[in-house]
Amino acid sequence: MSDAQLETILEHIRLSRRFDFRNYKRATLKRRVERRMIARKCKTLKEYLDLLVVEPPELEVLICEMFINVTAFFRDEELWRTLERNVIPGLVRDRRPHQEIRVWCAGCATGQEAYSIAMLIAEALGPELKGTELKVFATDVDLRALSVARRGIYNEHQLEPVSLPLRERWFVPVAEGFQLRKEIRRSVVFGINNLVSDAPISRLDLLICRNVFIYFDAELQTRVLSRFHYALRRDALLVLGKSELIPQAAEIFQPLDLARRIYRKQHIEGMLSVPERDPPPAHSPPPTTALPNQETPVLNQIHRDVLSVLPVPVIATAPDGTVALWNKCAAALWGKTEAQVVGKKLAGLGLVGLSGDLVVKKSVRVREGRSESEVSEGAIRVPGQSGSNALSIEVTALKDGGRVVVGLLYVAHDVTIMRGLQGDLKQANENLTGSSDKLRTSNEELQSSNQELETTNEELQSANEELQTTNEELQSTNEELETTNEELQSANEELDATNRELASRTEEMHRLALYQRTIIRSLSAAVVVIDTAGRITAWNLAAERLLGLAESEALGQFLWNLHVPALNRSLVANVRKSIAAKRALRIDDVRYELATGGEGHATLAAVPLIDGTVVLGAVILFEDTTRASLLGSENLRLKAHGQKPAKAPAPQAKKSAKTKTPKKKPMAARRKPRR
Ligand SMILES: C[S@@+](CC[C@H](N)C(=O)[O-])C[C@H]1O[C@@H](n2cnc3c(N)ncnc32)[C@H](O)[C@@H]1O
Repeated sequence: MSDAQLETILEHIRLSRRFDFRNYKRATLKRRVERRMIARKCKTLKEYLDLLVVEPPELEVLICEMFINVTAFFRDEELWRTLERNVIPGLVRDRRPHQEIRVWCAGCATGQEAYSIAMLIAEALGPELKGTELKVFATDVDLRALSVARRGIYNEHQLEPVSLPLRERWFVPVAEGFQLRKEIRRSVVFGINNLVSDAPISRLDLLICRNVFIYFDAELQTRVLSRFHYALRRDALLVLGKSELIPQAAEIFQPLDLARRIYRKQHIEGMLSVPERDPPPAHSPPPTTALPNQETPVLNQIHRDVLSVLPVPVIATAPDGTVALWNKCAAALWGKTEAQVVGKKLAGLGLVGLSGDLVVKKSVRVREGRSESEVSEGAIRVPGQSGSNALSIEVTALKDGGRVVVGLLYVAHDVTIMRGLQGDLKQANENLTGSSDKLRTSNEELQSSNQELETTNEELQSANEELQTTNEELQSTNEELETTNEELQSANEELDATNRELASRTEEMHRLALYQRTIIRSLSAAVVVIDTAGRITAWNLAAERLLGLAESEALGQFLWNLHVPALNRSLVANVRKSIAAKRALRIDDVRYELATGGEGHATLAAVPLIDGTVVLGAVILFEDTTRASLLGSENLRLKAHGQKPAKAPAPQAKKSAKTKTPKKKPMAARRKPRR
């Protein structure tokens, strides 16, 4: 991915989400974009940019990725030990009565750092916590991280760095893990704050901002640092943590613990002004102005000889700037003999590499005792050498025994090699800083990936457990189903058997019914069966013949309503009465009108059909006895005349004219119901 492509994404974020990543280190941002491209399977940045446009939630995910909110309770144990032992006790001890303790945890991510400091201060306050206004302002730009922080609920794994006593004192178990107690949550105030653009929180006693500057470039670091300077009370402390390597911090703040990057707000007026120096000592003698000639007591011959042979260029002047000594090296460097310069004003010589500033302003400061020494840098071309040599010329005062300034001494050092080495060193340092920055950010990213992996792992584990549970449930449901199936099968078999039995019984019943019907139909006596209501359910052939009504016409009729000549009204009434009384009835010698005309004799029997106590109906038998009656009366008559009685006729004997059964079909008129 090219820088220009990354800028396109940053611009898109700036315009659509109003968050400015322009002063963030590019390498980190690039890696985060690449991670998202891999996650979303985008092969080119163009593809990913298109995705960002059509899928706004992806932009949120990318921004969150860019914030890298890795954090932990008491992250960097050593620093927290220092805070606990050397910083917090002073914070608690030195607070003025009724003054609140104000701490700012900037870039707090999911809150662990803010709660860590709150717990330590609460521990240091002990019972005084109740009466103390403790305010830990915890801010971040990542809203999602802040909402996690606000809940103050963490899992067992996240609590690992918290010591057991702190856990027991400040956490309560809840459904999702462990929640910080109200006392701590009340003292931590979470809020959204962009360190780059929002106003800082002020009047602070302590400001903690760790692992945030590593993402900023040098310009942004300086900008945010100056805001922090403003935010702190006098003498208040700034904690950046060992990951932050910000050279400017030591210029703006007074370093207290450089390894852990703990600083104090300096007593200075104006942010970046040079610290005040001690005024010159009161007993300093007034500066002298005269070095009359070369033979001063200070610059005696011995000194001259020593200075002359020194292997560096040396110039001595009177306090007014008149050259008093010019050694051989100076002559070689500037190409002027002693005679050409001694007695002349140094400022008037126009020596290359010797700046006017040093000769005039800085020399005055040294001469007047306002400065011990001054230095100026310059360059000079040395004949026979390529390029120019770097010079560092230092001016110091020449004093006599009574500390009177009797002259000024200029010593020139050729620092070409040193400058080269310094340049190399600077470059090496920058490379080192860059590499260590990269290492740190990669570390952070690794940690964040690690956390993501752990979370994914946990989610996978819980999904696995859920699957296992579902599997178990399915298995047991399966077993239940199998059992039910077996039960159903055996019920089915039983039903089959019952069905078969029912079928055979039904068949048997049909057979019996057929027998019964055939028997009833073939009886010579008329058989009429009625149900409890008197409705006719059976009517045999003899009934058709004797009572003069076809079976199809009789079935379903009420016996009581039938108009059958053989069954007169009183006879039917008798039958009805005895059946109602569950009694059997027999009437011999019933006289009835034959269907063919004439009078017939019959015997009527009515028997109720009773099953236990339940009346099912009745059977009425109507047997024609006309021939038997005739025979009886014939016998009586023969007896009376002393003759042999006649034999009773065989049942199938020829019918007499009087007992002949009707040949014709019964007439419909006979079916007229009784009223
Ligand atoms: C690596 S975390 C550091 C968390 C915590 N300070 C620690 O060291 O454990 C960096 C945090 O800085 C936040 N951050 C990044 N840029 C920010 C900005 N401009 N203003 C405020 N917070 C910012 C991120 O959202 C992230 O939560």
